[in-house]
Amino acid sequence: MKSFASDNYSGIHPEILEAIQLANGQHQISYGNDSHTKNAQIVFEKLFGEVTVLYAFNGTGANVICLKCCTLPFQAIVCSEYAHILVDECGAPTQSIGCSLLPLPTSDGKLTSELILPLLGRIGNVHNSQPKVISISQSTELGTVYSIKELKALCQFAHSHDMFVHLDGARISNAVASLGVSLKEATVDCGIDIMSFGGTKNGLLMGEAVLIFNKKLKENAPYFQKQTTQLFSKNRFIAAQFTALLTDNLWLRMASHANLMAHKLAKSVSTLPEVRITRSVDANAVFVIIPSHSIKPLQAEYPFYEWNELTHELRWMCSFDTKEEEITDFVNKLRSLL
Ligand SMILES: Cc1ncc(COP(=O)(O)O)c(C=O)c1O
Repeated sequence: MKSFASDNYSGIHPEILEAIQLANGQHQISYGNDSHTKNAQIVFEKLFGEVTVLYAFNGTGANVICLKCCTLPFQAIVCSEYAHILVDECGAPTQSIGCSLLPLPTSDGKLTSELILPLLGRIGNVHNSQPKVISISQSTELGTVYSIKELKALCQFAHSHDMFVHLDGARISNAVASLGVSLKEATVDCGIDIMSFGGTKNGLLMGEAVLIFNKKLKENAPYFQKQTTQLFSKNRFIAAQFTALLTDNLWLRMASHANLMAHKLAKSVSTLPEVRITRSVDANAVFVIIPSHSIKPLQAEYPFYEWNELTHELRWMCSFDTKEEEITDFVNKLRSLL
């Protein structure tokens, strides 16, 4: 199957598969006390500076660990109305942390201090859950990317109100590739307190990393990881994948390719009549509206999701392994259907 459905429809990058193979074949101490996990810690520190690294099986698990580290049960997490933690995690954060989520409407998937400010009147009122975390996704669920200036402003705002900033980095590599800065400059240097670092959507078999920059948040993290069922006894197989991902800029090569493919796709369809790109194409997603009669026949050839069933807005996602020929073929098919 060829598809523009999701970056997790793709398989495993050969260099990642090789890293798993190399980690195999001998006994190692379990639960992250192995040489591969220790090595990955060194690699993360080279890129981010001082950081506590834990691992999770999936993005939902990583987000739950992060948010649990930042909150008490009577506190609340501010997020966008499109946030994965709100819409796509089956209530996992609220169920396992006990916190409320406070969603805010946004036109581009991004939060700003202006949007958040009205919620802060709740602070100190015993009847209200207390806003404690601003949770953002980078890149956002709408394929947009926060600029460094926007990130710094948001973190400064959060800290000035005694709040933490959590970054859902399921697609952080795509965002950083788009920004053209280093991983450190785009995260900890902006003031991010805690984040997930996505692997699965960028060529891993599975696995996400939890990166804790704010020392206040690290003490309980391993217990939360275990309690939320995310501690893998054979952690070496996740850690070895991350070492490969972070070596020789594999993360950047893959994410840059996915972003480039999305830009090519957007450019090609923008010349077609009756096709409207609906969101800024900042990373590896293209949001688009096409005549509704052409959706099903096109999906039959290349699966993709209808993002909004009311407006028929579609999401086309590119991956590290999207090929230019697939884009040409897809656009030709769409052209013939119009
Ligand atoms: C923004 C965002 N966060 C996190 C995830 C990770 O989700 P999962 O728990 O399926 O790995 C996804 C996957 O779709 C996502 O798009």
